[in-house]
Amino acid sequence: MAYNIGVIGTGYVGVVTGTCFAATGNNVYCIDILEEKVNLLKQGKSPIYEPGLEVLLQRNLKEERLHFSTDLEEAVKNCQIIFLCLPTPPSEDGSADLHHVLDATEQICHIIKKYDLRERKILINKSTVPVGTADKTRAILDKFIPDYLIDVASNPEFLREGFAIEDSLKPERVVIGTESEYAEEVLKDLYQPFLRSGNPIYIMDIKSAEITKYAANAFLATKISFMNDLSAYCEVVGADIEKVRLGIGSDTRIGKRFLFAGVGYGGSCFPKDVRALIHSTEQAGTPLDIVSAAQSVNLKQTTRFIAKIKKRFDDQIQGKKFAIWGLAFKPDTDDTREAPAFIIIENLLAEGAAVSAYDPEAMNNTRIMFGDKIEYCDNPYDCLKEADALIIATEWTVFRNPDFQKMQSMMNEVIIFDGRNLYSSAEMEKMKFEYHCIGRKGINTK
Ligand SMILES: NC(=O)c1ccc[n+]([C@@H]2O[C@H](COP(=O)([O-])OP(=O)(O)OC[C@H]3O[C@@H](n4cnc5c(N)ncnc54)[C@H](O)[C@@H]3O)[C@@H](O)[C@H]2O)c1
Repeated sequence: MAYNIGVIGTGYVGVVTGTCFAATGNNVYCIDILEEKVNLLKQGKSPIYEPGLEVLLQRNLKEERLHFSTDLEEAVKNCQIIFLCLPTPPSEDGSADLHHVLDATEQICHIIKKYDLRERKILINKSTVPVGTADKTRAILDKFIPDYLIDVASNPEFLREGFAIEDSLKPERVVIGTESEYAEEVLKDLYQPFLRSGNPIYIMDIKSAEITKYAANAFLATKISFMNDLSAYCEVVGADIEKVRLGIGSDTRIGKRFLFAGVGYGGSCFPKDVRALIHSTEQAGTPLDIVSAAQSVNLKQTTRFIAKIKKRFDDQIQGKKFAIWGLAFKPDTDDTREAPAFIIIENLLAEGAAVSAYDPEAMNNTRIMFGDKIEYCDNPYDCLKEADALIIATEWTVFRNPDFQKMQSMMNEVIIFDGRNLYSSAEMEKMKFEYHCIGRKGINTK
């Protein structure tokens, strides 16, 4: 059946979740505190770059199943199912800051009480939150509206930026944590259209659902860090991490994905979720040493890459110009949160180097971060004018087959620091580039 659904928070998760629920026939009320964002969304314009989102957004707006507003009351009054898709940023100690989630829960309670909304509701947390958050939610409900029937559930989100629509319409699995049979039945029904190909929905206790999300992200981060750690060893002994990757990835127990060595993982999820899991497990007296190691390897990997760049110029990069290709933390998104490119730029600027940058989608977010401290280019080649080296920080497909001759004609020195191993050694040799990469022997390096 079609439900009235409230989605609180219209960021990367909320706007995609809301749009996809509308796309399966539900009536969805998406709420955000940012008026500017809401106004854009009302016009069918996506505030984020996410392939396929805008078309779906426009269709569902036109067919009046999707509503955007800053009015939380509208959603609470109209909806029997409310999803919280709010930020859970890291606190100083690494723990997840829950104030957005808990404050919104309290506001929802006040609205329910104010209008005496007696219809049974389900409050579902889609934000990534530490174990015990649902207990905190329950405590708030019990404090402010003890005699109203509100079920609590955890429904961690596994979408990948860049594939968010695909992942939401056809999730590999849906995880629901709840102790309520009613919530279980409603959520199974709500998700049924997304699982027609037979992918599973796992119903579990809330604590296990809350941990599942952190476990997934920490495991993937660990996989990347394992390869990054190994890449340093490969460089020293003259092996090739790309060949090792193929060699181990074909073992189905290991799997081919998340085995790419690079400049380190970034983004709005892995770094913060790894930190939060480290914090929670330390607090519980059962520290996850392997996850702490994944985190320190990640920091080391970016630092090692930057050190390689500086060393090439005898640690004298003042006055040098570096072109950067790729600013988003990964391709197919405009998200630059904790992007390795930003860490690299900050380091180069701190030592007096000049930076020109290009990314197909992340220029606006980069401008917000660096203002007039760097040069922004309209295409990859403009960036290269009189550059002393090119740094590749994100593996956008547009960088995979560039016009190498044109590149050479524009650069001061034909040096590439490839943080994503995009080019073959043979090609770099043929084109006479000085090529520094990750976990492989460099070409024409000193
Ligand atoms: N981005 C991802 O790929 C991803 C994937 C899975 C899970 N998650 C988790 O989902 C949660 C949300 O992530 P995101 O990337 O969508 O965050 P985001 O920062 O992109 O979006 C959060 C939105 O919530 C809004 N907001 C803040 N307080 C509000 C309030 N009181 N009422 C209404 N709106 C409010 C903000 O204005 C913002 O638009 C986080 O816990 C994150 O870890 C994110």
